[in-house]
Formats: sequence, C-alpha cells, structure tokens
Amino acid sequence: FSCLIPDRRWCRRERARCAPEGECVTSATARAYPNIALVKYWGKADEKLIVPVAGSLSMTLDDFPTTTTVTLTDGGDTFRLNEVDHDGTSADRVTVFLDLVRSLAVDAGLDTAHLSARVVSTNEGPTAAGMASSASGFAALAVAAASAYGLDLDTRELSRLARRGSGSASRSLIDRFAVWHAGDDESSYAEAVSAPDMAMVAVPVATGEKAVSSRQGMIATAETSPFYPAWITSTQETLTEMIAACERGDVTTIGELTENHAIRMHALIASCRPSIRYLNPTSIAVFDEIAAMRQEGVEAYATADAGPNVFALTRPELAHIVADRLVGFTKDNEAKILMPGQGAHLIDGASA
Ligand code: ADP
Ligand code: DP6
Ligand code: CO
Repeated sequence: FSCLIPDRRWCRRERARCAPEGECVTSATARAYPNIALVKYWGKADEKLIVPVAGSLSMTLDDFPTTTTVTLTDGGDTFRLNEVDHDGTSADRVTVFLDLVRSLAVDAGLDTAHLSARVVSTNEGPTAAGMASSASGFAALAVAAASAYGLDLDTRELSRLARRGSGSASRSLIDRFAVWHAGDDESSYAEAVSAPDMAMVAVPVATGEKAVSSRQGMIATAETSPFYPAWITSTQETLTEMIAACERGDVTTIGELTENHAIRMHALIASCRPSIRYLNPTSIAVFDEIAAMRQEGVEAYATADAGPNVFALTRPELAHIVADRLVGFTKDNEAKILMPGQGAHLIDGASA
C-alpha cells in the first residue's frame, strides 16, 4: 500500500479501504431527512456557535432524504451537490464545517486531521426553498464526515456537531420528534421527545431558491424587528406548552400551537425593515384552505418554514383526505404524505 498516511494502521480501520491505484482512502456515506419545526427556531444567541435564542421542536420526515458521501483526500476540499460542482457560499459553508471536524480530529489525536475531503451530496427534496435542505444536508454531512475522519461521536455529540452547519440540522439526528435545547455550546443539542403519531402533507407551491437565506433572514430579524424580544419569550412559552401537549398525545393542541407559531414567525419576519416575506399568494391560499377544512371537521393545521412551501399537520387516518384536498395547489400536482422518520445514519456507500 502507498497510503496517504504513512501509518498503515489507518488503512485497516473500519470503512477504510485501499483504492486500486494503491492509495489508502477512507470514505463514508450517510443519509438524513429534513425536519419540519412545530415550534420554530428563528434567532441565534451566538452566530458562530449557532446556539439559538430559544428551544424548538420538530418532526423528522421519512422522505426527501439527503445522501452524502465524504471521501478523504489530500487535494483540497470540494463540494458537489446534485451533480453540480460548487464554489462560493455553499462550498464555503461546507469547508468551515469540515474545519471544525478536522479540529475535533486533532483533539482526538487522529492522523486524518490534516486531510481534506471530497463531499458529494444529493438532495431529493428542493434546495434552499423552505423544505429544510440545510437540516438534512448538514445532518448527513456531520454523520458522514465524523465517520470518514474516524471520530467516535454519540448521537448527542453528532447533534451538536450538525448544529454548527445549520441549526435545524441538530434535530435531523433524532428519530421521529425532537426538541432542540437552547443553552450554550455544550448543552445545545437535540434529543427525542415522545409525541403521538402524526402525518405531514407536503404542499410544494414554488421550489426555486429563496431570495433571503434563513441565515440572513435571522440576522435581519434580530437587527430590525421591534417584536424580536416578544418573539423570544413567547417561543419559550409555546415550547413548554407544546412539550406538554406532545406528552399527553393531544393532537388538537399540538396542531393549534403549530399553526399559530408559524403565523407568528412569518409576522415577525414581515416586521423587519426592509420587510421580508417568504410566503406567496398560493401559500396563503393553502393556509386558508386548511382552515376551511377544519371548519368542515377535517382536522389539519398549516405550517411553513422560511419559504413558500406549506406543510399540513394532520392525523395519519386523515392524511389522504387532506392530501387530495391540497394537491391542486401544488407545483407538480403531488402532495406527498410524510410520516415520522429516522434520524441521520450511516448507510452502505454502494447503495447510495
Ligand atoms: P432550507 O430552507 O432549504 O433549509 P437554508 O437557507 O436554510 O434553506 O439553507 C440552504 C443552504 O443549505 C444551501 O444554500 C446550502 O448552503 C446548504 N445545503 C443545502 N443542502 C445541502 C447539502 N446536501 N449539503 C451541504 N449543504 C447543503
Ligand atoms: C424557519 O437552521 O436553516 O426552518 O442555522 O442559519 O442554518 P441556520 O438556519 P436554519 O433555520 C431554520 C429556520 C426555520 C425554522 C426551523 O426549522 O425551526
Ligand atoms: Co435551513
């Protein structure tokens, strides 16, 4: 073997292999799903460490996965997403994240710490459209990169690591429902919270890239909205109520809190100067249709992240009725029914 690293032991590590050319390479592939917040995260207490001003709670989905392969090289970091090579902001975000992984590798005394990485990723859902691509993207990257570099991290540490790529990614490490704690770098991670089975119906109305990223939108909100302090305190209250409703399996209260908290977030965002608006007229029409369904006794509740695409939260047995009712609003005549899904995990690279 002519290994990248003189110490041959590295080649014999789990998942490490020798390429046909005789180099010792190591790679890992991970899959993660987006999560949709029922109590939203919108604001950072620490911009660099990505610690939120308040906790949040979400459902991890079982579709729209991101699959990411990280391969160690000695040729500089590269980032390829959906068959396109990226340089610029999204590649920079990946490199900053890999620098953090490498610093953890230094701390762990690993001989991989000086290597760069080739990152190849596929998002099956829309990217940067308010359907949580940054959550599935950085959760998958955290799991794949930690493994490729040889770090031995538990779920909590992986959640903290994913958080540094994108705050919402901390929650995509967790199966089903997750609460992400505010706090400091040590204590801000996501963990499972018990909640009744619920379905989300995805209503994609426009899947182009948003004009203002979540990162930029949060900064603008903190700097210019007079309502920001009230948002922080009310989110803390809503989270307490939501956790209690989840624990007692009270779908009606979960739904009411979810819809109201989403509307509050979009009102907060609209109150920026200059104003920011993620919802479009079709999004509003979907919110109205969901409210009309409720009037007729079909229990569904609307939410939307930082983008125009709406999700309807409902009881599993009503999901088909809700999807049939909303499909006419969608861009591609498809309203997928999503159930609680799996947290980010390693997969066999060959099946990626
Ligand atoms: P979204 O609503 O999709 O989460 P954000 O504004 O939060 O939108 O984040 C979008 C950004 O997340 C992208 O511009 C890119 O930088 C990053 N991102 C998305 N998917 C991936 C991925 N698979 N791997 C790494 N980064 C990703
Ligand atoms: C509206 O996690 O995408 O989806 O931490 O800056 O990467 P960064 O932001 P991101 O923000 C998500 C905002 C939201 C609400 C939520 O998912 O809780
Ligand atoms: Co995001």
